[in-house]
Amino acid sequence: MKRVWLTALAVAAFLGGCDGAAVADPPAAGDPTRGARLLAQYHCGSCHTIPGVASARGQVAVTLESFGRRSYIGGRMPNTAQVLVQWLIEPSSVIPDTTMPDMGVSEADAKDMAAYLGKLE
Ligand code: HEC
Repeated sequence: MKRVWLTALAVAAFLGGCDGAAVADPPAAGDPTRGARLLAQYHCGSCHTIPGVASARGQVAVTLESFGRRSYIGGRMPNTAQVLVQWLIEPSSVIPDTTMPDMGVSEADAKDMAAYLGKLE
């Protein structure tokens, strides 16, 4: 009986694991052109390198190159549009011990920035 449960758990873990589902998730429904401008205005580039945002050449944090193809945010949370928007509004509400600071981003601005980041292939 125990073995049946373990097998079921293993199958569930396999199906829910790295199957690319998060990558296939559609980008946030925002305005990516406005998002690119906001990424510059919020100075995200003081820490991150962001392709297509001229001022964003930071080396302090991970590059956001190909971010749309990543499965995880902070290596731990699924990279879906909803989680990404919440991350941009308040990173510590997604990963409490993260070192990315809260940037005072509004929900509307977060959606537009997420729309841009989600398209980075
Ligand atoms: C003071 C430096 C700093 C600034 C400014 C900053 N970030 Fe970050 N960011 C980080 C750090 C550090 C991480 C890694 C966090 C972790 O792994 O817990 C991160 C992670 C991220 C991630 C997840 C990347 C991944 O592959 O896991 C995204 C997306 C992101 N930042 C977007 C932004 C945006 C958009 C802005 C501007 C609104 C911004 N960041 C401003 C430091 C910063």
